[in-house]
Order: sequence, then C-alpha cells, then structure tokens
Amino acid sequence: MASRGSADSAQSAPLPRHIAIIMDGNGRWAAQRSLPTTAGHKAGVERIRDLISACKERGVEALTLFAFSSENWQRPPKEVELLMSLFHSYLRKEARRMQEEGVRLRVIGRRDRFSARLQRAIAEAEEITCAGTRGNLVIAADYGGQWDIAQAARAMAEEVAAGRRTPESITEETLADYMQLADLPPVDLLIRSSGEQRISNFILWQAAYSEFYFTDTLWPDFGVEALDAAIGAFQRRDRRFGGRSGGGLAAQA
Ligand code: IPE
Ligand code: IPE
Ligand code: MG
Repeated sequence: MASRGSADSAQSAPLPRHIAIIMDGNGRWAAQRSLPTTAGHKAGVERIRDLISACKERGVEALTLFAFSSENWQRPPKEVELLMSLFHSYLRKEARRMQEEGVRLRVIGRRDRFSARLQRAIAEAEEITCAGTRGNLVIAADYGGQWDIAQAARAMAEEVAAGRRTPESITEETLADYMQLADLPPVDLLIRSSGEQRISNFILWQAAYSEFYFTDTLWPDFGVEALDAAIGAFQRRDRRFGGRSGGGLAAQA
C-alpha cells in the first residue's frame, strides 16, 4: 500500500472540487521591477485566463477569485479607479470567451458601491454566461467574509420578522443556505499568493474546512505550474474533518 504523501497516493487522491484564491502580490511584483503598481495589477489580470482553462481541463468545478476586498476602498483613489476600470474591461472582454468555453461567471459581494456602468457590465457578463455548465468562475469584488455572514443573518432576520420562520430554525445548516457560494461545492482548497499568511476578510464561513496553501510566488507570476503545485499539495493532505483518517486509525478505534 502506498504511504500517505507518496506520489502514488497523490495521483489517486481526489482533486479539489472548488478552489478559492487570494490573488495577492501585484504591488510588490511591480515594485521589484520599478514599475508603477498599475503594471502589477494589469499583469495580475493576465494570469486569470489560463488558470480558468487549467481548472476546467483538470475537472475542478469552481474557481473563486478574490479580486477586491471591502477594505480595498482604502487604497489611494487613483489605484481604486484603475482596479475598477480593469474589472470593467475584463468583464467586457472575457465574458464572451467564457460563454464559448461553457464557463458560468458570477460576481459575489456588495454591488451598490460600484458605478452604474460597472454594475451593468457585471449583470451583462452574468447574463451572457448563465447557461454555462462546464465550470464556474466566481469573482469576489467588494466582498468581505464578515459582510457575507451579516447579509445572511439579515435575510434570515427579515424572515423571522415577517413570521415566515422561527428563531429556533436558524442553525448552521440553514444559515449556510444564505451564504454566498451556497450552491457550489464546498471550498476544498484556499490558496494565497505573495507570502502573506492571513485571510484578510475573505471567505470566513466557507473556509471552515478548506485546506490552506500559501506560496511566496507573487500573483503575476502565479501560472498553471503554481496551480498544479497547490493541487498536488492538497492531494497529499489528510483531511479528517474532526474525525479519523479513512481506514487505518478509524479501523483500530
Ligand atoms: C493584490 O495585490 C490585488 C488587490 C488587492 C486588488 P496587492 O496590490 O495587494 O499587492 P501587494 O500586496 O501590494 O504586493
Ligand atoms: C487581500 O489582499 C485582497 C485581495 C487580494 C483582493 P490585500 O493586499 O488587500 O490584503 P492585506 O491588506 O495584505 O491584508
Ligand atoms: Mg496585498
């Protein structure tokens, strides 16, 4: 029998069904090259296309990308403006390609702080790709994990106030249905590039049992090889979910 962690066991181990990525390090990538931050963000956007295709080819069902956090509004106005404009042009350019590839796009997060023009582009991109069945791309923009939990709690509180549910009916299971990503497989693998080892208010609820993978690679250098390294590391993990490893130890208990 192959021991855990060997190449054999990694090859036969299941793939992550849902990968989420904190795409960090654009600023440092640009600074290392004496380029403006803008160039780092532009280079970062360029990585996304190949990663979507790679996920699709490998059979990963969903890819969730953290593009702009609720806290990123604190960046200098010029940088925020550039990020909004990159997001807008990305949606305009890539939605058709995703439609052709059968990838369904959705955006999670608050929308009301975006310009009307950007809100329209988001709605159009979601509409164009809504029939896709060969993969899911989720872009988290103006997203915060705390916001997500609060919006779910608010929606349930409204139902209680309207007499449509009782407070006792609010449980981990029912609240989960009100969280973003509820209809997708659980996030198996959460990757953060750039060497930072924190969650920065990304998915809090949904990461309860995600495997975390941190890499020093800066986001604009994060290619398909880096993705495969992360998937390989995931496949060598022993996921116990609070129980015992499959087979061995459980059988001894
Ligand atoms: C991530 O890169 C992109 C966004 C947060 C939008 P950063 O801009 O945070 O890059 P660093 O952390 O400054 O290197
Ligand atoms: C997290 O990165 C947000 C995104 C990658 C979109 P930040 O660069 O904003 O996070 P902190 O400030 O280092 O925690
Ligand atoms: Mg950063």
